[in-house]
Amino acid sequence: MTNATRCLIAGNWKMNGILQESLDFVKELQANPAPEHVEVALMPPFTLLHSLADSFSEKDVRLGAQSMYCEVSGAFTGSISPMMLRDAGCHYVILGHSERRDIMHEGNTLIRKKLDVAWSHGLEPILCIGEHLEERESGRTNEVLKEQLSVLADVNTGVSLTVAYEPVWAIGTGKTASPEQVKETHAFVHEELSRLGHDCRVLYGGSVNPNNAAELLACDGVDGALVGGASLKADSFMKIIEAAAETA
Ligand code: PGA
Repeated sequence: MTNATRCLIAGNWKMNGILQESLDFVKELQANPAPEHVEVALMPPFTLLHSLADSFSEKDVRLGAQSMYCEVSGAFTGSISPMMLRDAGCHYVILGHSERRDIMHEGNTLIRKKLDVAWSHGLEPILCIGEHLEERESGRTNEVLKEQLSVLADVNTGVSLTVAYEPVWAIGTGKTASPEQVKETHAFVHEELSRLGHDCRVLYGGSVNPNNAAELLACDGVDGALVGGASLKADSFMKIIEAAAETA
């Protein structure tokens, strides 16, 4: 851990999860509460936010959304606003996830607008950054991360913010960055954040699972994990929380 804030284990369900499954998940998680020094968050699909907000107290599990639009209300068919997310009980919103950047073509200008509107509505963004394989292999990782973090230029210091470093080649592939790569890259991300005036948590994401969580979470500069596939089953998600409890 690099600062005094609690380690965060956040589950990003992506486009997975229906009501009954989520209620079973809640029961299992409630039977095994996380220790005080580990913060747990879930980012289910929008349709499950209200029911999960009714099931958990914010003290036990914080809720987040996987995305949102950059306007508060109006004629934006199919979009969801920061105000609606607050109303549904969200504390966090994931912004800049590589699936949004690559599939939905979201770039820095839109991400910055979303960051501003998230902050003005009391949401804490989890800003995702990460390089593609060819960028890592051609030695451009830091350049790419710096460019992605440039959305934070001129942002007031002291805003609530979490960053997630997720190498794109590690997401959903079963490959993870090596501990050396994680340490080196997290050190760079913290350094760049501090140059921009921010001292915040930096999560690692990309194929985190119960077998590799302890090693990844023990790396210097890693303040938690953003977990996709392994957060879909309560059993594997709880094992990652346990690993965090032991290393944090
Ligand atoms: P994964 O996804 O754990 O399934 O690799 C992580 C993420 O996309 O946040």
